[in-house]
Amino acid sequence: MEEKDISRAVIKRLPRYYRYLGELMDDGVERISSNELSGRMKVTASQIRQDLNNFGGFGQQGYGYNVKYLHSEIAKILGLDKSHNMIILGAGNLGQALANYTQFEKQGFKLIGIFDINPVLKGVSVRGIEIRMVDELPDFIKKHQVEIATLTLPKSKAVEMAKVLVDNGVKAIWNFAHTDLNLSVPSDVIVENVHLSESLMRLSYNLSRYEKDHKKES
Ligand code: NAI
Repeated sequence: MEEKDISRAVIKRLPRYYRYLGELMDDGVERISSNELSGRMKVTASQIRQDLNNFGGFGQQGYGYNVKYLHSEIAKILGLDKSHNMIILGAGNLGQALANYTQFEKQGFKLIGIFDINPVLKGVSVRGIEIRMVDELPDFIKKHQVEIATLTLPKSKAVEMAKVLVDNGVKAIWNFAHTDLNLSVPSDVIVENVHLSESLMRLSYNLSRYEKDHKKES
């Protein structure tokens, strides 16, 4: 399949298509029309057709989309057709919660190391992976082809640790510390900042709007 330049907006929606298609596969559904998918996903059928047309030739008139094929093509686009070695820096509440979440592994993100600076955590095992001290980090990265590093450490340490990662060849950072790391790393390093509180604020906005509308009605 030839990949065209796909807009960021479409890329942002792909994980959701991927998830729904995975669920359809689990339910034994082999093909689905844009209308049916639209009903499930609460996205207009024309949006679905437009999005999926980006990848060319997926849907067939009167036949719909081949679920398995579409799922595997989207997996390729998202880089989920191969496994990625991942480490976690910061084995506190969030770091350990992420380490314990086995679903990432099923999606191809293989957790191979957890690092912290707190000596109390040294050797503690999370899901069979021993927490190591950060002084072992450079050697570990060199030996294990680490692709993705997850930062679940204090904001004040994020830039300093990102530099260690980048200097040792890590190219992708999944950043949970509340700082926009993109501004602090070279432009060829890929950063995905995650801010759960932003999602919560959107929820809060919608809740206040709902409450306002409700007051007007009553
Ligand atoms: P925590 O205090 O439980 O864990 C932080 C861990 O990082 C500690 O074990 C600490 O020893 C370790 N650490 C400190 N310096 C380090 C270094 N240089 N290298 C490796 N490890 C180091 O904190 P929690 O609750 O797990 O939160 C972690 C971070 O994630 C905080 O910055 C917090 O603000 C952020 N956070 C972000 C969220 C988001 O949506 N982006 C949601 C929740 C927390």
